[in-house]
Amino acid sequence: MAVSVIVLAAGMGSRMNSDLPKVLHKVAAAPLLHHALATARSLDPARIVVVAGHGAEAVAASARAFDEAVEVVVQEEQLGTAHAVAQALPLLEGSGGEVIVLYGDTPFVRTETLQAMLEARQRHSVVVLGFEAADPGRYGRLVVQGDWVQRIVEWKDASPAERAITLCNSGVVCASVHVLRALVDAVGNDNAAGEYYLPDVVAIANARAGGESPAAAGVVICPEAETLGVNTRAQLAEAEAEFQKRARAEALENGVTLTAPETVFFALDTVIGRDATVGPHVLFGPGVTIESGAEIKGFCHLEGCHVSRGADVGPFARLRPGAELAEDVHVGNFVEIKNAILDEGVKVGHLTYLGDAHVGEFTNIGAGTVTCNYDGVMKHRTTIGKRAFIGSDTMLVAPVSVGDGALTASGSVITEDVPAEALAIGRAKQVVKPGLATRLFERLRAIKAAKGKA
Ligand code: UD1
Ligand code: CA
Repeated sequence: MAVSVIVLAAGMGSRMNSDLPKVLHKVAAAPLLHHALATARSLDPARIVVVAGHGAEAVAASARAFDEAVEVVVQEEQLGTAHAVAQALPLLEGSGGEVIVLYGDTPFVRTETLQAMLEARQRHSVVVLGFEAADPGRYGRLVVQGDWVQRIVEWKDASPAERAITLCNSGVVCASVHVLRALVDAVGNDNAAGEYYLPDVVAIANARAGGESPAAAGVVICPEAETLGVNTRAQLAEAEAEFQKRARAEALENGVTLTAPETVFFALDTVIGRDATVGPHVLFGPGVTIESGAEIKGFCHLEGCHVSRGADVGPFARLRPGAELAEDVHVGNFVEIKNAILDEGVKVGHLTYLGDAHVGEFTNIGAGTVTCNYDGVMKHRTTIGKRAFIGSDTMLVAPVSVGDGALTASGSVITEDVPAEALAIGRAKQVVKPGLATRLFERLRAIKAAKGKA
């Protein structure tokens, strides 16, 4: 059965107090919108349509960056959630099948929950997602009998008795494209906000079924944590905490050792293999893959990088976008790697910057090495061969290459290519003056003593 997903993301999010559209605020290093799109994509849908409005260009660009196949419609005026859905439905009418409506500001709904809703569609023509709220606040309330939903009342329109209900509306709705079209067309805006409310489709479905039929609308109930909506910065922080809690539990479940789970921060797309170990205070930015058995020691900051089996990184290392560590690579403390490929067995132990570089297998990079990749205008590459030895405090002024098995002397500034197996020394020659240290100190002490008397 074909399923399509509509993601509502046109709202301004005024309570964020921000110039950025709400759905572009980030949780786990990814816009809220990407969380909803990742959930949508997990259903392997026929189409995904995002409804954009406030900051539509930026929202559309973000949606396409997630996946080129995502379609975007613009809701020029935000007249309510039903009106937003009505903007997207024409795109789906040809495809038919089922449609699920998600909210761009509700990042944590699980795939299994949506599958339960699709399954419940066999018993009800419209299915909504509800949750028992610890603090129901301003959520819409579900008026139910068993799993039959009679209507949804928005907080603004609710009576005191209705406000006492704790079963709340998450906003997620599932129906066939054709049924949803018919229901949305019938939604009016005669309410406290003067908006076209999507939740009104429930009352309309019931009325059309004669008001007595549980087959009209049903509810699937999920844990409140899944429906956490972000309307304020405080809720954004809560969402971050909730995401991290889940991601840590999931990593442990998948066989990753976390020595201090509560200090490790994951991104939405972090991938970590079984039997990898992650020490305390490690932060994963977007685009990180850590293979099985790799070890990331404490206080590392990683983004856009790939760490292969048997490699070990840190403590206090930074891997930036394009850092590619092959098997058994060792990257030690205070090392920064950017856009650089380190082949098998490379060792970069201490205090080093490697940027725009390729290092061949089993090469050793001495402490304090720097690839001087930037001339103030352009970036240049450094290429180092296999089994080479870069002496401590070598400055590699790019573009430059060091051949296989070559050696650079400590403290060298390498400005010319070094052929394979050669030794390059690029530093001032040492001069030794016997006895001069003693004579110099005597003179200095005499000067100090003379000053003391004056
Ligand atoms: C909505 C539900 C409420 C539910 C709550 C759960 C309605 C009328 N009410 O209320 O029952 O308990 O979510 O969080 O649906 N949007 C558009 N275009 C619009 C209006 C909204 O795209 O014209 C988008 C927003 O960007 C947002 C989502 O729809 O992603 C929900 O809108 P919002 O205004 O936050 O609805 P709530 O008042 O929270
Ligand atoms: Ca909301």
